[in-house]
Amino acid sequence: MKKEIKRIAVLTGGGDCSGLNAVIRAVVKSAILKYNYEVIGFMGGYHGLYTNDYIKLDLKTVAGIFHQGGTILKMSNKDNLFNFKTVDEKGKVVYKDVSDVAIENLKKLNIDALIIIGGDGTLTSARDFARKGVNVVGIPKTIDNDVPATEITFGYRTALDHIMLSLDALHTTAFSHDRVMILEVMGRNAGWLALEGGIAGSADVILIPEIPYDVKSIAQTVFDRYNRGSKFTIICVSEGAKPVDGDVTIKKIDTDSPDSIKLGGVGDILAAKLEKVIKPVTGQDIRVTTLGYIQRGGVTNTFDRVLGTKYGAYSVDMIARNEFGRMVIIQNDRMDSVRIEEVVGSGKTGQTSSGGARIVNPHGDLVNAARDIGITFGD
Ligand code: F6P
Repeated sequence: MKKEIKRIAVLTGGGDCSGLNAVIRAVVKSAILKYNYEVIGFMGGYHGLYTNDYIKLDLKTVAGIFHQGGTILKMSNKDNLFNFKTVDEKGKVVYKDVSDVAIENLKKLNIDALIIIGGDGTLTSARDFARKGVNVVGIPKTIDNDVPATEITFGYRTALDHIMLSLDALHTTAFSHDRVMILEVMGRNAGWLALEGGIAGSADVILIPEIPYDVKSIAQTVFDRYNRGSKFTIICVSEGAKPVDGDVTIKKIDTDSPDSIKLGGVGDILAAKLEKVIKPVTGQDIRVTTLGYIQRGGVTNTFDRVLGTKYGAYSVDMIARNEFGRMVIIQNDRMDSVRIEEVVGSGKTGQTSSGGARIVNPHGDLVNAARDIGITFGD
């Protein structure tokens, strides 16, 4: 029998991206205006679900948040309630399954369905709550755009805008000083951000994880450009890019995070190696800019506001239809859903860097178009 829905909850987990507030706003507006549901939001992702820390979400709460990056509900990628870090009487760290506490809280609050917005780690817990009978609807989020079940995730296009504008800015200073400028961007093990951002920002060299690079080949591009009078070169490098004879650059291991390997630093390593080859010949200096978390913040762009609205509104329709244990996706520009079971746990929702993520085809149209206009990939 179809469950009658009166009260729903929403939470955001994992790392943030632009468009989360657009999703929350759409969930709240659609739930109230279309279905007359009450809505609450748990604060700080699963932590709020565990500690029963929540706010009532109404039309007033979501007024004025549409364009803002981040999430009014805050989020964390450290709280796996199925393996929760606690400290015992002797001060020893012990990991416990506290998911029943969360389920009790949902019962006490009369929550009929829970919308969980997050990456692989967050949605893996969503799957586990669904297995325990919670009526869950998942929404994938990542700036990396590497979720294979869906063709585009919100946050990606806003991140691309940041990359494009940064490359535009680097062009003028690179030109003035005849320098080689390296911009390091995010994306984990998928090169979408570097590739599309690099094309849009007119990079001369784009380095992505899917195409290992050779410093000599990059130097050749710098020399070719120099010899034809372009005395500056712009390189857009993905944080997950690796040399032909090496591996990714790891910035740190964060054991508290479900995705413990934090990439970063490839730009500096590349600069040191490249400068040794080019400086004696052309005298050019190399400077590195790491764009970092700017890519995840700021004002949400047009595309992500609309996309977030589509994801949010559809998730509430799914609740009304009792389509639980499923994740919202978009395919051929149409909203749809897949079972969360099918997509989580192996990096397939994009949050982890393990196998399964949707990566760039090195022989695909995008790479080919870039090569056609003279962009090189260091191979
Ligand atoms: O997955 C999104 C992302 O921004 C990656 O591009 C980046 O490598 C990672 O998250 C950074 O994670 P954290 O917020 O844990 O530093």
